[in-house]
Amino acid sequence: MENKKKIVLTGDRPTGKLHLGHFVGSIQNRVKLQDEADKSFYMVADIQGLTDNANNPEKIRSNVLEVALDNLACGLDPKKTIMFIQSEVPEIAELTVLFLNLVTLARLKRNPTVKSEMKDKGYGEDVPAGFLTYPVSQAADILFAKSNLIPVGEDQLPVIEQVNEIVDSFNRYYGDIFDHVKHLTGDIPRLVGTDGNAKMSKSLNNCIYLSDSYEEISKKVMDMYTDPKHIHVDDPGQVEGNVVFTYLDIFDSNKEEISELKKQYKKGGLGDVVIKKRLIEVLENFIKPIREKREDFAKDPKVVMDILQEGTKRARETAKQTMTEVRKAIKIDYF
Ligand code: TRP
Repeated sequence: MENKKKIVLTGDRPTGKLHLGHFVGSIQNRVKLQDEADKSFYMVADIQGLTDNANNPEKIRSNVLEVALDNLACGLDPKKTIMFIQSEVPEIAELTVLFLNLVTLARLKRNPTVKSEMKDKGYGEDVPAGFLTYPVSQAADILFAKSNLIPVGEDQLPVIEQVNEIVDSFNRYYGDIFDHVKHLTGDIPRLVGTDGNAKMSKSLNNCIYLSDSYEEISKKVMDMYTDPKHIHVDDPGQVEGNVVFTYLDIFDSNKEEISELKKQYKKGGLGDVVIKKRLIEVLENFIKPIREKREDFAKDPKVVMDILQEGTKRARETAKQTMTEVRKAIKIDYF
């Protein structure tokens, strides 16, 4: 990839506001990469959002603005990153249909990401076909722009793997049009939830949002999972698996003090409230500038929608070029 152009693309499903897990898994990298990339795209993946929300289009529609606000607040810059809405680039849907022929049902059912999401949602065999096939539409999201570097959370790696299989099949049948894509996960590829669950996720209700107020942060931290056996201040406590310490390790820059606090906690004599109060301040310092920038952008939603409209125009130009190439390769370029 050395002499190739670095084209970055990533996206979010607009199913809710974004949280700290999104930040450390992917947003941080998006913001960094927009300065290094030859081209950078950010997609509001509303069509993907609909794959498990077909009955609730209002939810998807209203969250388009929310995820755009979250990304802008974190420093995504429309001058550097083409920000667009998936459904407004119909070429992506067209490419999805063509890619669907390159994937078997058995392979789709084996995708570990989709499998675990299906389990979380309790679908069993009654999974919407659009949901089962979302990795295929994600291949189209990525490849319409010929992007090759994809900042994502760790949970998305099996999807990226499937994208590369689609690249291989496509190129084998129709000639070399697409390149393999690489993922880039954050330093913390998966953030535990406030309840100690392995993953921070809206559906598990264990999130701290990038837009949370000081009061919300405080309440969530005070309710955080620590060491259930650490009942009295003098009891020796466990640091491993203790969410407060996990977060302090990530968000508190004073490593020495944290290491000292851990020692005390393990020995006994350090109460949960002390470390929780510290974490509240650490997270507030982290989130406050994001929250304030978000509030600024939120004052004028029209400006944000204009950014998305302008980005969508540009994304669509790219998509049309790719589709011309693809149609020719598949011999469906009749007129
Ligand atoms: N599936 C991703 C998620 O749930 C969102 C997404 C849609 C995406 N299209 C994409 C990510 C293309 C990277 C590239 O987080």
